[in-house]
Amino acid sequence: MLDDLKHDFPIFNSYPELIYLDSAATAHRPRSVITAINQFSILENSNIHRGVYDLSNNATGKYEEVRLKVAKFVGSENANNIAFTKGTTESINIVAQSYLADRLEQGDNIVTTIMEHHANFIPWQMLAEKHSIELRIAPVDENGDLIIEQLNALIDDRTKLVAFNHISNTLGTVNDIEQLIELAHQKNAPVLIDAAQSILYYDLDVKKLKIEFMAFSGHKMFGPFGIGVLYVADQLMDEIKPYNYGGGIIQSVTVNGTSFSNFPFNMEAGTPNVSGVLGLGSAIDYIEKIGKRMIKEHIGTLTKYCVEQMKQLSEVKMLGSPKNRSGIISFVVDEIHPHDIASFLNKDQIAVRAGMHCTQPLLHHFGESATARASFSIYNSKSDVDALIKSLKELIKFWA
Ligand SMILES: Cc1ncc(COP(=O)(O)O)c(C=O)c1O
Repeated sequence: MLDDLKHDFPIFNSYPELIYLDSAATAHRPRSVITAINQFSILENSNIHRGVYDLSNNATGKYEEVRLKVAKFVGSENANNIAFTKGTTESINIVAQSYLADRLEQGDNIVTTIMEHHANFIPWQMLAEKHSIELRIAPVDENGDLIIEQLNALIDDRTKLVAFNHISNTLGTVNDIEQLIELAHQKNAPVLIDAAQSILYYDLDVKKLKIEFMAFSGHKMFGPFGIGVLYVADQLMDEIKPYNYGGGIIQSVTVNGTSFSNFPFNMEAGTPNVSGVLGLGSAIDYIEKIGKRMIKEHIGTLTKYCVEQMKQLSEVKMLGSPKNRSGIISFVVDEIHPHDIASFLNKDQIAVRAGMHCTQPLLHHFGESATARASFSIYNSKSDVDALIKSLKELIKFWA
């Protein structure tokens, strides 16, 4: 178990009693990340890629260093595989609009799964509607595991993309991405991985995995809001056309027309989120200092403990029981509305999420309209789980 890392996170100095169990929504930021962001404003603030003076050159250099750092973090040596975006949602929408939209023909299909976050579902649904193609949706079993044979049967030689998450933000299911990638590639379909929930503590080596696209957000990995990443494999970089037009993405502009830079520079029109990128770089340093393996072990231990404790409470029903679970547990308590559960826990300063977690099709599949959700990170400890269970017991007594 990792001890004392809570001290790295200033939010807990401000709120010492806070028991934060909502890291799947957003993680808190360590001091080093906050410092990196502030330092940029105080000492280095300047626009990038435009100035020839020292301040601007320095900012450009630091911004581009983070691009290479991100590339290496995901197993690529080529910084140009990495575009900075606003987050997972924007990254996925770019693949939908800038890559896929122009190559869809009647009879094609896109394959995704029922366990996706809306960010990895609606963009495909919209494309399917607009281009009159089929959106094929792989189901999960009652444990919340993908039914692999059924997923496999949906992929064929007209599949233009297979898009799935590594970790479900509602069930906590960890998908066997090696297997899923292989199934897609056997039929020559490119793969997009939504790594929003896994990038923090799963090794994602894009070269070994041979992924075509990967998306993640800074704020779920101790970085700032408003910064995310789209990875695109070498062989598809030339296929991504600009989706947003403006400064910073051009080779030349005349009154007769415009020619554009190559990926990733054709994605970053306008002034980018420079301090966000530097904060993301600092978050990667922080994660690498601790090590993904340690983070995974810590979160795994807490989750296992919490599942065991919840199983003792007959009134608590967990959504799914996946073979391989990450640090996320969705649950309901008797007939109590999840918003009431979360409000009750809040009085003990326990922060959990309540609602549909942007996975409405999945919740409908399980016959629920909402759940409460606890999710863990490195600043949590067993005592946080104990506090959650104690408060749930009081809730059950109170409601009886
Ligand atoms: C699995 C998954 N995909 C996509 C997203 C969307 O991420 P963002 O809101 O940072 O764009 C989330 C956010 O919760 C998520 O959990």
